Amino acid sequence: MEGCLQAVVLVGGEGTRLRPLTYGTPKPMVPICGVPFLERTLSRLKYAGVDEAILAAGYLPAAIRHHLGDGSRLGMRLTYVIEDEPLGTAGALKNVADHIRGPFFVLNGDVLTSLDLSAMLAYHREKGGLGVLHLIRVEDPSAFGCVVHDADGRVTAFVEKPPRAEAPTDEINAGTYLLEPAVLDAVPAGRIVSIERETFPQLVAGPIPLYAYTTEDYWIDIGRPEHYLQAHRDILDGRLRLEPLADPQAHRGRMWLRGDLDLQQGVQPPAYLGDDVELAPGATVGPYAVVGDHARVGVEASVSNSVLWAGAVVEAGARVDGAILANNVRVGHGANVLTGTVVGHDAQIEADVVVPPHSRIVAEPAVAQT
Ligand code: GTP
Repeated sequence: MEGCLQAVVLVGGEGTRLRPLTYGTPKPMVPICGVPFLERTLSRLKYAGVDEAILAAGYLPAAIRHHLGDGSRLGMRLTYVIEDEPLGTAGALKNVADHIRGPFFVLNGDVLTSLDLSAMLAYHREKGGLGVLHLIRVEDPSAFGCVVHDADGRVTAFVEKPPRAEAPTDEINAGTYLLEPAVLDAVPAGRIVSIERETFPQLVAGPIPLYAYTTEDYWIDIGRPEHYLQAHRDILDGRLRLEPLADPQAHRGRMWLRGDLDLQQGVQPPAYLGDDVELAPGATVGPYAVVGDHARVGVEASVSNSVLWAGAVVEAGARVDGAILANNVRVGHGANVLTGTVVGHDAQIEADVVVPPHSRIVAEPAVAQT
């Protein structure tokens, strides 16, 4: 049975909150310690016995297909279903209904979690019903969808983003479901439908139960810059152990530096360095620095509390602290890029500039030469 399990991964959102990173890279492809997030998600699915994933895409699908292809490198079969217009989280599932042959996982394309998918499947087999929703507990549920259930785990109500004082529970929808195909019968075709706001509440009012599966797992939605940075911090702190990759060969030669171990001059752990990273004399990297493949950090430059994607260049004497730099960003010598700043692909920061905290910087559009 496990051998023919399917999953649908929702990867069609525009990821507006992660702009400008998502102007060039769809959110599911942003790197987590150098490996596209979706590749990590697919490895988790593979590990749980899922051989086929249907990618419900729409925004920059070519970037996803270009990297993952038909999935054979990961030992999986990937099917791409592209929406011309976003259909919402349930509309996207309805749109792939023809491909579904049995119970299937549904994963939001931006949730980083240690959830054991096999255990969730076992729970569904034990409980029966229309499906299982993964829940986690949070201190403040007011920004999330609260899910209320009875003592047997049967879901009784959904309350979207309640004021904190009125929240009926601290358990929230964590964005991973295991559903029976019959759920799709409840979704109207050809229009935008939200699974959280429309489909689940409708199903809860019906005769066949949906069950809650609450765990204490690590969980974060990487869809905001501060959460994306926090996820890396947590990984470097060992709060989340990254799963083995389905294709470790493609990511050889990377270097983790944890604890007090300073394996490379200039590195202050914890830190992660990709392939072929160059540190000039006097450069410091860390603590809490993630530096992508082929990046260069110049003489007396420093990078801390930051995530640099592949090909970033930090010139001599520059300082990057608490920032995210997308592919091939260049920080000019002596410049300061500080807390909360996000720099889009190929952008250049001029020498000696002090970028105000929380800036969003995009590359200048190329000017046509006459
Ligand atoms: P923001 O614009 O920053 O809110 O991000 P987003 O567009 O990704 O939206 P959100 O974080 O709410 O989406 C949660 C998950 O559902 C993400 O993995 C999205 O890719 C996915 N998603 C959201 N809307 C759609 C849709 O209309 N179609 C598909 N296929 N996926 C969607």
